[in-house]
Amino acid sequence: MPVVKVAVAEGDGIGHEVVPVARAVLATVRPDIEFFDVEVGYGRWERTGEAITDAEIAALRAADAILFGAITTPPDPNYRSVIVRIRKELDLYANVRPVKSATADMVIVRENTEGLYAGIEEVGPDRATSLRVITRKGTERVARFACGLAKQRRHLTVGHKANVLKADTLFRDVCLQVAAEAGVPCQERFIDALCLDVLRKPRDYDVIVTENMFGDILSDVAAYLAGGLGMLPSANIGDRYALFEPVHGSAPSHAGKGTANPVAAIRSAAMLLAHLGDRTSAARIDAAVERAFAAGVATRDLGGTASTCEMGDAVIAALGV
Ligand code: NAI
Ligand code: MG
Repeated sequence: MPVVKVAVAEGDGIGHEVVPVARAVLATVRPDIEFFDVEVGYGRWERTGEAITDAEIAALRAADAILFGAITTPPDPNYRSVIVRIRKELDLYANVRPVKSATADMVIVRENTEGLYAGIEEVGPDRATSLRVITRKGTERVARFACGLAKQRRHLTVGHKANVLKADTLFRDVCLQVAAEAGVPCQERFIDALCLDVLRKPRDYDVIVTENMFGDILSDVAAYLAGGLGMLPSANIGDRYALFEPVHGSAPSHAGKGTANPVAAIRSAAMLLAHLGDRTSAARIDAAVERAFAAGVATRDLGGTASTCEMGDAVIAALGV
């Protein structure tokens, strides 16, 4: 069997705590994986003046999959987001954010390369603009991805603001057309109303597709259904590369204290294995997380007392059951 190479970019803040736990879980279920570290983020910026360079991008490209933590935004007015650059350079166009709990089972698919994060911005002293770019090609490919998921599941919802934004009329129309061609049952919702509705009636939602920023916000809203940001994993998928990261950021208030919940990172590791075709090990990890919770182990954000490492140890112990 060829060696599986996983790049590990812890990033900053709690990335240094939750990613090693997720890596330990991966190494337990798949001792054959070869890990290598890639340093990106605020720490690297402090040391060298650059948060990421072409060398790190090349290193990430050499991996079969990437396990990523989170980046703290450096206090530099010229700074451009590391994760946004990685998503663009590796063309990771679908950001997949499953929200699963006793009350919800949905997957938010967020377009990951354009929208307001296209980086076309002009900053003057009295006026600043950020261009929101929606293209047919960009929308088609993320809509196809979402429809592929919806075919295996139940149905698709398109979240948009086409009542106000002309760009969203294109986004909606392309998504509805792709869904019709794929034979996927599809509904549409205005994004603001959708943010409330996913909380009120989560069962009405299955796969949801949105443009970039709407999906960013909607998934943090939906995190409420799953116990908070410490619980939500994500995948960034392109045609050639894939990166897996918790939805949360570097949470500086938790950093270095051992209080961060590693479950979002552990579940991201499970998504990584599923993407590599090892659904059995992915399911084993998800089941171990559930068993650890059932045994009463939980971090403070969930009302428990376990530290980051204790939570990780409980999951690893539950893998053996
Ligand atoms: P955040 O997601 O880091 O934290 C928001 C709140 O959620 C925190 O106050 C914390 O109480 C809670 N939280 C998040 N993850 C948790 C965990 N694993 N366990 C327990 N509680 C958790 O977002 P925030 O505070 O807005 O941003 C902090 C930094 O992270 C900023 O520099 C921001 O730019 C960056 N960020 C990076 C992201 C990335 O690299 N993909 C994504 C979002 C934010
Ligand atoms: Mg976010």
